[in-house]
Amino acid sequence: MQVITTKAAMRDTVRGWRQAGGSIVLVPTMGYLHAGHMALVERARTQGDRIVASIFVNPTQFGASEDLSTYPRDLERDLAMLNDAGVSAVFMPQVTEVYASDAQTIVETTDLAKILIGKLRPGHFRGVATVVTKLFNIVQPDAACFGEKDYQQLCVIRQMVRDLDIPVRIIGVPTVRDSDGLAMSSRNVRLTPDDRAAATILSRALFQAQDMAKTGITASRLRAWVAAHIGAEPRADVQSVDIRDARTLRSLSGPLTGPAVILLAVRFGSVLLIDQRVVTP
Ligand code: PAF
Repeated sequence: MQVITTKAAMRDTVRGWRQAGGSIVLVPTMGYLHAGHMALVERARTQGDRIVASIFVNPTQFGASEDLSTYPRDLERDLAMLNDAGVSAVFMPQVTEVYASDAQTIVETTDLAKILIGKLRPGHFRGVATVVTKLFNIVQPDAACFGEKDYQQLCVIRQMVRDLDIPVRIIGVPTVRDSDGLAMSSRNVRLTPDDRAAATILSRALFQAQDMAKTGITASRLRAWVAAHIGAEPRADVQSVDIRDARTLRSLSGPLTGPAVILLAVRFGSVLLIDQRVVTP
């Protein structure tokens, strides 16, 4: 496995691979890998000949009040996991390699970036869309894998690729859960043991919501039920519960007529957890 830190070396490597033939799948990450990331790598393996994983803790997607310096990191372990998984190259640039000090250009999905998580974390999706565009331009993959856990991020990236005619196939990979149902996330290590146990309410609420969606319930009533069910857990500080059209993220209130996504953002102590599930009536 090659470890590449510069854009020039990444492009050279890709040029060589292209000459030899075969396709490239990118798995963008911010490192501190867990089973959720490895599911992206596994899926990438079925989609192309060579996998490039990127490890880059992208400063532009962190808000002023969010501490970039405490984002968990374990590079040695990440590299060992990617090597074992048969990744061809890891692209892990420094911040100064990715962002020139005089950079002026951003990429933003104007509507999608302002709703839901975008409201709680202003500027977050602008940072994501900009860095993903840059990664696409540097690695020039045929396809790229993103987790469905970050559902709004996946919608933002799909929209951006459509709007800007970026020739990369976007593959959404289902959320990987711990045996107790908690969605895998790098943030989970920051939960206290009590909050960790309490946070399992999220997946339990989502799974019950799927059963309720089959009963002809309206989106408003289902939303209210999920919010009340999670809110009854004393350690859960519910930030948002939304039910949206699974493709457009348009708000829903009436009877469910097609796939809808339930999106949760809930704080446990200082840790904001997100989770989601697509339910069908
Ligand atoms: O999902 C993530 O880890 C990040 O948002 C991504 C897509 C790697 C962009 O920095």
